[in-house]
Amino acid sequence: MTSQTAFDILVVGSGVAGLATALAAAPRRVAVLTRGAPGEDGASRWAQGGIAAALGPGDSPAQHAADTLAAGQRLNDADAVSRLTAAAPDTVRWLDALGARFDRATDGAYALGREAAHAHARIVHAQGDASGAELMRALRAAVRAAPHVTVLERRTAFELARAGDGRVVGAWAHGERGPELWRAGAVVLASGGIGALYRYTTNPAYADGAGLALALAAGAELADLEFVQFHPTALAPRDGERGQLPLLTEALRGAGAVLLDARGRRFMPALHADAELAPRDVVARAVWAECERGGRAYLDATRAVGDAFPARFPTVFAACAARGLDPRREPIPVVPAAHYYMGGVRVDAQARTSLPGLYAVGEAACSGVHGANRLASNSLLEGLAFGRTLGAALAQAAPAAPAPAVAGVRVWHPLDAAAETALADLMWRHAALVRDARGLQAARAGVAALRAGLPPGAHGADRLALAQRMLDAMLARDASVGAHYRSDGLRAACA
Ligand code: SIN
Repeated sequence: MTSQTAFDILVVGSGVAGLATALAAAPRRVAVLTRGAPGEDGASRWAQGGIAAALGPGDSPAQHAADTLAAGQRLNDADAVSRLTAAAPDTVRWLDALGARFDRATDGAYALGREAAHAHARIVHAQGDASGAELMRALRAAVRAAPHVTVLERRTAFELARAGDGRVVGAWAHGERGPELWRAGAVVLASGGIGALYRYTTNPAYADGAGLALALAAGAELADLEFVQFHPTALAPRDGERGQLPLLTEALRGAGAVLLDARGRRFMPALHADAELAPRDVVARAVWAECERGGRAYLDATRAVGDAFPARFPTVFAACAARGLDPRREPIPVVPAAHYYMGGVRVDAQARTSLPGLYAVGEAACSGVHGANRLASNSLLEGLAFGRTLGAALAQAAPAAPAPAVAGVRVWHPLDAAAETALADLMWRHAALVRDARGLQAARAGVAALRAGLPPGAHGADRLALAQRMLDAMLARDASVGAHYRSDGLRAACA
C-alpha cells in the first residue's frame, strides 16, 4: 500500500456522471479516480446520440416521462423518471454555460432531433454524431480548471475500504506503483456499464463491470441485472475482431437509412409497422436473426444520406473510411452489439446504495429510470442530471473519512486474457439478444468452471460472480419484456 491520502469525496470513474458529480461537489475536495484519463476511457465519449430534453414547442417533461415509461415497459420507477425529465432542460443549459457547443438551428435555438419512441423532437446533439466527445471535452476542461478536483489517472479501483461499522470509507486501487488506498468521506461509483462482458459491444474495454463487481463483492444490492440493451447497428467485425465495434447511430435510420439482408432485400417492413424505426430491441433481434441464419445484414444509407454523409455523420464516416468502406456509395455490414446496461447498483432518490457511504450514478447505478429498456438519449442525461444532484448534496453533507478497519487487501489478480475471452464468448452465445433456460444454464456452468480455475481470493472472481448474478436474473425472468427476450418463455407486452 503506497498511499493513505484522504479526500472528502472519491469518485470512481470519469465519464459524464463522474465529472458532473465532481464539478457539482465544489468546494469539497474531490478525487476522480479513473482507469485511463478523463475523456479517454469510459463509454461517454463514444456516445453518438445526444441528450433528450423537453425544450421544443408543445413538449413537456411530463411527455418526455411518458415516453420513457413506455420504452421501459413501465418497469421504471415513475418518481425517478419524473425527476430525470424535469431536470433535463436545466442540464442542457448548464452544459451550455460550461462551454459545450450544441448544434443550433438558423435562429440560434437548439437544433432538436427526433429519435425512435420519442413523441417530440427533443434530442440535443453536438457536431452531428459526436455528442459524447463534445460533452467530455467541455467537462474535462471544466474539471481541469476546478481547484477542488484532483484526477488520479491510470488506476483501477478493485476493492472498497470499510470502517469498523461497515461504512464505505475509500477504495483500494491498482496503479503503476502497486496497490494504493484512497480514503474519503463518501465514495461515488460512476464506473459505467458491462458491455465488455460480451464478445461484441459498442463500449470500450474499460466498460467491463469492474465497478459493479467491486460493489457486489462488498455486499451492495444490485438490481435489474437481466436488462442489457443491444444496439442493432455496430459495424460488423473483420475476421477475428472482437470487443468494441464502431457504432452506426440510430439517427442514420432516422434519416431514412434501411436494413438489407445478404440478398439486398429489406427485412424490417415485414416484421414491424415502424420498420427500421421499430423499438431498438426489435430491430436488434431482427439483425441478430439475419446473422444467426448465416447471412449478413447491411445498413444502406446511400439513397437517404448519400453525399451528405461526411457532414452529417462525421464520426461514422471516419469509422467506415478507416475500414475502406464508403457509406455514400455502398451498404455497410452490421451486427448487433451490447450497448447499454439498465441494471446496476441499486440506488435511492439520493443516489445512495445499500451500503452506507457508497453512492452510485450513471450507467453503474440502477436508479429505476430505464426500466426494461432505455429510451434513446436518456443515458447521458441520467449521468449528468443525477450526478449534478448528488454532487450538490455531497457538497453539503459528505462526512470526514475515518480510517478503514482493514489495513490490507487481497493481492490484485484480475482475469487473464483466455478467461476474458471465454467469458465474453459464453455471454454472447447464451446471454445476449435471444435467451433460453438451457443456454443460460450452460453459460452459468461455464462461468462456474472459470471461477473454479482461479486462485483463491482472485479479483477476477468478482466479475465472474457478477456474470453469474446476471445469468441468474435472466433465468429468473422467464417471460420476455423490453430488452430481455426469452425464446422459451411467455411473450410479454413487447414482441
Ligand atoms: C445511437 O446514436 O444510436 C445511440 C443513442 C443512444 O444509445 O442513446
